[in-house]
Amino acid sequence: MGVPVISWKNDYLMVLDQTKLPLREQSVDLTKPEEYARAIRDMKVRGAPLIGIVAAYGVAQAALNSQNEQFAEFEKHVRRALESLAATRPTAVNLFWALKRMQAVLDDNILRSPAKHALALLNEAKSIHREQVEADRAMAMNGAALIPRNSNVLTICNTGALATGGEGTALGVIFEAHRQKRVKRVFVPETRPRMQGRLTAWELHKGRVPYKFIPDTSVGALLSREEVAAAIVGADRIAANGDVANKIGTYQMAVLCARHGVKFIVAAPRSTFDAGCPTGNDITIEERDGDEVRKVGRCFVLPKEYLVWNPAFDITPRELISHYVSEDGVESGGRED
Ligand code: MRU
Repeated sequence: MGVPVISWKNDYLMVLDQTKLPLREQSVDLTKPEEYARAIRDMKVRGAPLIGIVAAYGVAQAALNSQNEQFAEFEKHVRRALESLAATRPTAVNLFWALKRMQAVLDDNILRSPAKHALALLNEAKSIHREQVEADRAMAMNGAALIPRNSNVLTICNTGALATGGEGTALGVIFEAHRQKRVKRVFVPETRPRMQGRLTAWELHKGRVPYKFIPDTSVGALLSREEVAAAIVGADRIAANGDVANKIGTYQMAVLCARHGVKFIVAAPRSTFDAGCPTGNDITIEERDGDEVRKVGRCFVLPKEYLVWNPAFDITPRELISHYVSEDGVESGGRED
């Protein structure tokens, strides 16, 4: 891709500002835990696995910034960072999974000096990042085998390198399938209101994979007119019963795929599977500021006082899913055909 999505620079994290893409490739430096939390909340960085990775570095940053303090002060600052990062976005379980790992290192190293402790936390953040890169590679190989030769495929949101810091989940599968000559063209819905489809178009454009950027509202028309072999999407949380929380619009896409006999594939690492969450109904769905819907770009198209509902995610029940792809392999979903 050329520009690193995130890069640890000795004592701070440099991240590509995704709100500026694809028109500008601009990085920002995160040097304080508050900046990490703001970057996640404002979606400068986004995508379930990447949120977890950046939050883990945010905890390490808090520790490094406090490593010359007495242990009690040091610990207070790191715990405050853990809390504020956990309060950024509620739906992607990868965030809480990563923070739990960081918390375990903090608790485990209780007798060490703040400096040694900070190093252990930084190493854990690097491990979380490295494991995601490895999971993405395995997922890409596992998922590509499901795509027939020379297929059109459909996706939603952005699930590529920008969402994981590796090769991506669903988009990683699509890139690998393209390398194996299985993908003819990728249809990329814009993904209102935050337009994450622009990020997918940017990645496909750079990777020279043929694509078409389409209005969200055209998916039904597309499936009734074009031969599409599969929709491949990511996930923010997969409940124990197989229900999937993913970007708003995923559920209606799954319904349309079932109607048109198009395979519906969910690609996600193990860290997205939440055994402690029984069903999709138990997943907290983030609701974001109504201005994201009232505006197109920087312009209001709806007055401020008009009421808006802006859920960031929806739930697709297991019965609409053909396959789940993870780093461990492929599992069948609940769709009968
Ligand atoms: O609101 P976002 O952009 O963070 O939402 C991202 C998605 O919904 C992705 O599909 C999901 O995180 C899987 S990404 C690997």
